[in-house]
Amino acid sequence: MTVERAASLFSATFGRPPRVITSAPGRVNLIGEHTDYSGGEVLPFAIGWRTWVAMAPANGATSRVVSATQQGTRTFDIASATPSGSWCDYVHGALREIVALGADTGNVDVAVLGDVPAGAGLSSSAALEVATALAGIICARGSLLASWDHLAAAAHRAETEFVGVACGLMDQTASAYATEGHALRLWCDSGRREHVPFDRDVLVIDTCKPRDLRDSAFNDRFASCQRALAAIRRMDPSIQHLAHASMEMADAAVMDAVDRRRARHVISETARVGAMVEALESGRPLGDLLFASHQSLRDDFECSTPELDWVVDLAMSRRGVDGARLTGAGWGGCAIVVGTPEALAALVDEIGPAFETAWGRTPRVWLTRAEDGADVDYVET
Ligand code: GLA
Repeated sequence: MTVERAASLFSATFGRPPRVITSAPGRVNLIGEHTDYSGGEVLPFAIGWRTWVAMAPANGATSRVVSATQQGTRTFDIASATPSGSWCDYVHGALREIVALGADTGNVDVAVLGDVPAGAGLSSSAALEVATALAGIICARGSLLASWDHLAAAAHRAETEFVGVACGLMDQTASAYATEGHALRLWCDSGRREHVPFDRDVLVIDTCKPRDLRDSAFNDRFASCQRALAAIRRMDPSIQHLAHASMEMADAAVMDAVDRRRARHVISETARVGAMVEALESGRPLGDLLFASHQSLRDDFECSTPELDWVVDLAMSRRGVDGARLTGAGWGGCAIVVGTPEALAALVDEIGPAFETAWGRTPRVWLTRAEDGADVDYVET
């Protein structure tokens, strides 16, 4: 199995067995999109695809990293604060954060293997950061074992401060702490977490759109939300986060019309997370909330694409479908669909050929459920 494959990749590359093997999953966000960096709520769950990291202290003066899907072995010095611009920055950054927390990791050898679809907005980078940070903690001989709680924050800092992508806490938190059969409700202002039972199949459809514009558009929305918060605070300085403001405040504050629409999305989306938790707890249909989220992302936050809208509209028109929306950052990536098992099975058959006819390329389609977050799969005794 994959743990054995990670061990074999490590041994074949570095000539000795690993000290530790960890794994962490990608995620899908059920609802609460573009709210995490505005102090709002999110409701992601971990998916059935994971990244495994096998690790042992290095023999030499540098760290070495090999991946099952990348050519060659890369090296870096854990003491260096300079990113290389390659995929191994996720590993380097996560290890630096663990060291900053006090783990005596030193340089390490690392083998990476996984099946989280890359480039689909399913947080393959968060999975790598979390699995690496956890392996780094264990590799340092448990000096930080009590700090499982620091895992997501360390992985998040690796992404924002070392790799240099401004994102919220959601992806790393879901990858670190999600549990099987549950979505993870996270209050991004305080870091408070709660597991909400969620054991339904979810259909994930990747529209396979190249993601070139995603990072710059993301930064643009981030800045817009900051301006909206500043405008609201000029009216009411007690508001600490945009997600804490009311719709009335967003409407009354003096700001650019576009910023106002971004703010309206953040405020309404945060309210939908609480409503979704109530719907799950009382067994009510989820569809209206999912579709309202999609409309708000499409019209107010403007991060959908014609392809995502097409997938959502097609799914919503099918019998037995409860709801659908884009998930993740948007500007391409995936949509999710929730419905009866029969409706989802029918869509699996239908959506590929129909999408290909409409858009000239083949989407990736998966059925998934809420799975476990990060885990330690092997420790040398
Ligand atoms: C990306 C970011 C997350 C979050 C989502 C949008 O996945 O990494 O932090 O902001 O976009 O909800």
